[in-house]
Amino acid sequence: MPKPIRSAVFPVAGRGTRFLPATKACPKEMLPIVDKPLIQYAVEEAVAAGATKLVFVTGSSKKAIEDHFDSDPELERALDVPGKEALLDSIRNVLPAGVSCIYIRQGEPLGLGHAVLCARPAVGDEPFFVHLCDDLIQGDPGCLKQMAGEYESHGGSVVAVEPVPAEKTSSSGVVAIDDSNVMTEIVEKPAPEDAPSNLAVVGRYLLAPEIFDKLETTGRGAGGEIQLTDAIADLLRESPVYAYQFSGDRYDCGSKLGYLKATVAYGLAHDEVGGQFAAHLKSN
Ligand code: G1P
Repeated sequence: MPKPIRSAVFPVAGRGTRFLPATKACPKEMLPIVDKPLIQYAVEEAVAAGATKLVFVTGSSKKAIEDHFDSDPELERALDVPGKEALLDSIRNVLPAGVSCIYIRQGEPLGLGHAVLCARPAVGDEPFFVHLCDDLIQGDPGCLKQMAGEYESHGGSVVAVEPVPAEKTSSSGVVAIDDSNVMTEIVEKPAPEDAPSNLAVVGRYLLAPEIFDKLETTGRGAGGEIQLTDAIADLLRESPVYAYQFSGDRYDCGSKLGYLKATVAYGLAHDEVGGQFAAHLKSN
């Protein structure tokens, strides 16, 4: 039986320059999709997959994330009146009981691989999730839970992928796989002519702890950054890394267009406003 996954790592140190000026004083992870910030969707997906230790690798100007997952007694008192029960519940139960948060500062912006390595002291010698909250995935069960199911059947590491048009390979990690979906190659942001396939990595990883040793020695790669992709390329030579094509719709909320598409999809699915929103879109 493979070890259970208890930790989820959220690299949240990036400044989100693509959303300036909105992200000048507000972390990009706090941008809302309808009525919840992106980071809350991320946390809910990880908790639904069994994570109980949430490790945020954070940077300057990200205090709002810590506040969001902390209790707010003053706001709770203000909402503790008849008629506000649902709102009170929504801020009181942002995290279920038994789930704890750890915040680690990424001192320098050295890349995703470096951010994941910063989480090592909190994760320890156990497999763990990495969730990039720019990639919002609408799926039931959530993508990480699907990946945990895969992992339970064969162990190893699991990386979520989806097919993309050839011209998009230069925006993602791209993998080659064998007949059993075991990764044989992974390359960070290859030009279309160098891409080993059209299977792009999306921001969900379930990684064996050996990845940390790989990251310790990973040099700077694409964009001059320490890339998680390069450490995975090292790892797959020694232990199996499975590429997993999840079921669900992925929205790239790091781009304005993807963010708008996500807002429409989640707006339409929203209990309170979905019906009216659908009617509005139809009539326009
Ligand atoms: C990162 C990874 C890349 C992956 C992508 C998924 O890139 O380096 O391999 O495909 O996330 O969103 P970023 O989007 O941070 O540049």
